[in-house]
Amino acid sequence: MPELSIDGQSVRVAQGTTVAAALMSCGDHCSRTSVGGQRRAPLCGMGICQECRVSINGRRRLACQTICQNGMQVETHS
Ligand code: FES
Repeated sequence: MPELSIDGQSVRVAQGTTVAAALMSCGDHCSRTSVGGQRRAPLCGMGICQECRVSINGRRRLACQTICQNGMQVETHS
């Protein structure tokens, strides 16, 4: 079971879980903050809407297209 950090909170998930699914288990379930300051969350779950953009180990990724790996550092406020 991979263990990752989401905004500093340790989360353990089942093998094969996407980062978008992991977001649902902690915090406000959101993936990013819009330019206007509104929190945004994954919507389509299939790589189209881009609402699930997060920072993973310092790089922008789509949470719904990324499988959780042990030691990942996910940030939703950057
Ligand atoms: S949830 Fe729509 S692109 Fe990831």
